[in-house]
Parts: sequence; structure tokens; C-alpha cells
Amino acid sequence: MIDRHRHGWWREAVFYQIYPRSFMDSNGDGVGDLRGIESRLDYLAWLGVDALWISPFFKSPMRDFGYDISDYEDVDPIFGSLDDFRSLLDAAHRLDIRIVVDLVVNHSSDEHPWFKAARSSRDDPKHDWYIWKPVEGRRPPNNWISLFEQRSAWYPNEATGEWYLATFTRNQPEFNWRNPELREAIYRVARFWLDLGADGFRMDVATAYFKDAEFRSNPPSPVLVPDLLQRHLYDRNRPEVHGVFREFRALADSYGDRMLIGETHGQDPALAASCHGERNDELHMAFNFDFLFRPWGAESFRRSAERWYEVLPDGAWPNFTLSNHDQKRHYYRYRSGADSDARARVAAAMLLCLRGTPFLYYGEEFGMSCERVPRKALRDPLGLSTWPLPLGRDAERTPMQWDASPNAGFSDAEPWLPVNRDYKDKNVEAQRADPGSLLTWYRRLIRLRSLEPALRIGELRWLDAPAGVMAFRRSFGNREIDVWLNFVARAKTVTTLGGSVLDDPGETIAAGDRELGPYEVLITAREA
Ligand code: NOJ
Repeated sequence: MIDRHRHGWWREAVFYQIYPRSFMDSNGDGVGDLRGIESRLDYLAWLGVDALWISPFFKSPMRDFGYDISDYEDVDPIFGSLDDFRSLLDAAHRLDIRIVVDLVVNHSSDEHPWFKAARSSRDDPKHDWYIWKPVEGRRPPNNWISLFEQRSAWYPNEATGEWYLATFTRNQPEFNWRNPELREAIYRVARFWLDLGADGFRMDVATAYFKDAEFRSNPPSPVLVPDLLQRHLYDRNRPEVHGVFREFRALADSYGDRMLIGETHGQDPALAASCHGERNDELHMAFNFDFLFRPWGAESFRRSAERWYEVLPDGAWPNFTLSNHDQKRHYYRYRSGADSDARARVAAAMLLCLRGTPFLYYGEEFGMSCERVPRKALRDPLGLSTWPLPLGRDAERTPMQWDASPNAGFSDAEPWLPVNRDYKDKNVEAQRADPGSLLTWYRRLIRLRSLEPALRIGELRWLDAPAGVMAFRRSFGNREIDVWLNFVARAKTVTTLGGSVLDDPGETIAAGDRELGPYEVLITAREA
């Protein structure tokens, strides 16, 4: 059974994110489900991951594919039932795998009974659970935008003569976190899942819970990508959110060993860092998304990681992510013809050897890429509203490629999104059998991490390295592990202290100069 409670199991865990619509379909409707996930737990145990974060599987009209919830305490029939969740959780816990669920409480669905009541009358007891402004003329109250609809975030509600606020789709009205009853209702939802045994929450757009008390307009941004047309000073990232983070932390900690990781909406690592609280009494972790936006290169990633380590308050624990369900997969972002796999190996070694909890996204372990999803197959509201710009998120949500059978072994029916065309060569089954595959490499790195406390919780010190090479030392007790990552297609000479080569058991190298081949990863260990 699970034991590593003492100083936060989540510091030592390798997380694996599952987008449930796309992982495994057990009932032949073309959409993944909870039983499907359970049927593949043996694979996840073989891979060696310690925890799953499962994107939303709650009741939802699916306008934003589950990020629009109409019942927080039930499973959407497309994903199964509450009993299926209990069964999945039990089976995962038996394998020592924890499950973190997605808590989407910046907004609900417009079909949630709370919103239906709230919008019915200004006098309804739940009216104040959402954000309203009286309609005065045709102009919305300020310039905040609905990201997925690329228009004003204010939508009229006839019954009350007011606007409601929705900064994603119009179907995701935003909660008023200043209302104490709403807060209590959300904490009840949290307790519901913690009581069922969930190991924690990934908190959707957690930094957006509070909006400016005066509803000031955002200033424009010079950067022309949709999310950044404005600087989100007033519709997100308000200081009041820290009080709620402290309340959430106290709630989670009252269960002993549960974990909260916040999604910060914005790319600044300082914003993510602030979610831990100066006294480390807020979220256990907050996602740092900087790697998702970094160009390929040793210096680029090193600068990013250095900054992240610098801005984290004392005692706070870092985390790293290369891919998730909202951004193009990193295999695709960093592809380079015949070198794409080699690059993916370097990226994996960086992710799994840096100091900080790694978050993997389903499929990255065997190099799932992002093929273009044809217009008629697009499902994501962002993709539809911004077509033909490549901003939609369908390409990173395509079905898991299990094997070379029809629909990549994901489903007996036509999947909800097209399977990548490369699935016949690139899939779990093919790579599992190949000792030289990317999948085998991920598995070896995960195992190395689980065997070496230095890699999990050791200190990190950067080492001098030539341009194009990232090098760092992880140390714990007397154990020192040096990681050399050649990010370029040319050989580079590095000067090492020697040691046994961990990614090639049996080999040792002497101290001195050593040539690193193109994209070579060298991991050595010594007793200091
Ligand atoms: C962030 C989630 O990661 C994204 O997928 C979702 O669309 C928005 N929040 C709205 O909930």
C-alpha cells in the first residue's frame, strides 16, 4: 500500500495526465471512459508513474469538453458512473498509483442548476453566486474578453436585465468567489471527492477565481496572440485569491496526505510561485508553464528553470511540464526531421532529472505528435472560433495510440477525434517491445528516478558546459549524479568527474574530457 506520506508524496511522484475522452474507450462509443483507464492501469504501472491527473469526467454538456460542469458530484454517463470511479481509484491504489481529479470552480456550466436558479431572478438565493452587472445600453461593462469566442466576456441575461461574465465560452459563467455561501458549496464539492478517496486536485484556472472589485478594464497588450490581446490585470490574478488558497490548503491538509496543484493562468513563473504562499501555506504546487513556450535549446531551458527556482518561495517545491491538453505537444514543437526522436529523448531526460515534480502528458512517452486535424473534424471551441489559425487544441487531444489495429486500439468505433496517421508505426505495443525505443527510454528514466533519491529530492547545481549542452548535478547525502544533455546535432566535449554511467549500467567513465555525441544524454553517479 501507499506509504511515502511523510514529506509529501507528490514531491517524489512522477505524474501522468490523462485526457479521459482520448485514453481508452471501453464501451465502443468512440469516447474514452473511466473503465477504459482502469483497463490500462497495468500499462501505467509498467511505465512506473506514481500518480494520475485525470482531466474532468464530471457531468457536462461538453461545450468545453468537460471544463463546463453541470453536476460536480457525478460522473458524466459518457465516462461511466461514480461506481466506475470508485473502482478505478481502488484498482489504482492497489498498484500504488494515486489519482488527482480536476476541480473546475472558476466557472460552472450554464446548465448547472445553480446557474439556472441564479439567472432566473435577481432575488434568487443563488443569484449572487455568479457575477452580474446591470445592462445599461448596448455596451458591456468593460473590455474583458471571452477567450474561446474571441469577443466580449459579458453576455446578456434577459430575465434579470443583467450581463453575466464568462471569459472562456458563453456556456461557462463565472462564480462570485466573494460570496461566502458559494465558497462553502465549493468546499463541499472538494470534500465529496476527498471523502471518496481522491488524492487531490488540479485546480483549473485557479488564479482567475477573483476579479477586480471595481471591474476595471484590462490594458491592451502589445503581443498579438488571442490570450494576450490584453494584459489580464483585472479579470484574473487578483490578490484576494490567496485567502481562498489558504482555506483550500487547510481543507486538503485536514485529510492528511492530499495534494493541490493550481493551474495559473498566465505564463509568468512569478505568478505561479506566488500561489505557494510566502509561508508555504497555500497550494502545494502551482504549474509553471514556461517550458511550454520555450524554444528548443540548452540555454533557453536552463534560463527558464533557473528563473523558476529563483522565484519560488523558500520550501516551495518546483514542477515541470512539457506538454498538456492545451498546447501543441512538445514532440511536435521541437521536431527536427530525423532528429525528432533524439530531441524527445533529451527533453525526457531533462524533465525527469531536474529538481521538481515532472508531469507527463499521455502519449508523450512514445512520441505522440500533433497532426493537423481537418476542419470538418474540429471539436474544440477555441479551434472553431479561430480557424484557420492553428490555435485549436484538438491536435493535442487525439486518441492514445495503443497498437497498430484499427483506431490504434483506442476504440472499436470511430473515435471522437481522428487518430494520428502515424499510429501504425508509432504506438505503445511496437515500442514496448523495442529496447531502443523512446518508450523504453522514458521507462528507464522513470525507474532511475524511483531508485535514486538524488534525482527525486536531491539538491541541484548547474555545471559549466559548452554552448548547446545543459549540465547539472543532483546530490543527496554522499551520492552525486551528473546529468549532461546535448541539445544539438553536433558532438561536444565536456569535462566530467567520471563515475558509473547510470543510463548504461556496467559502464564507467574516468574523470576528464569526454565527447558527447549529437543529442547524447550522459548520466553518471559517484559517491562524493
Ligand atoms: C484551463 C483548462 O486547462 C482548459 O482546457 C479549459 O478550457 C479552461 N481552463 C477553461 O476551464
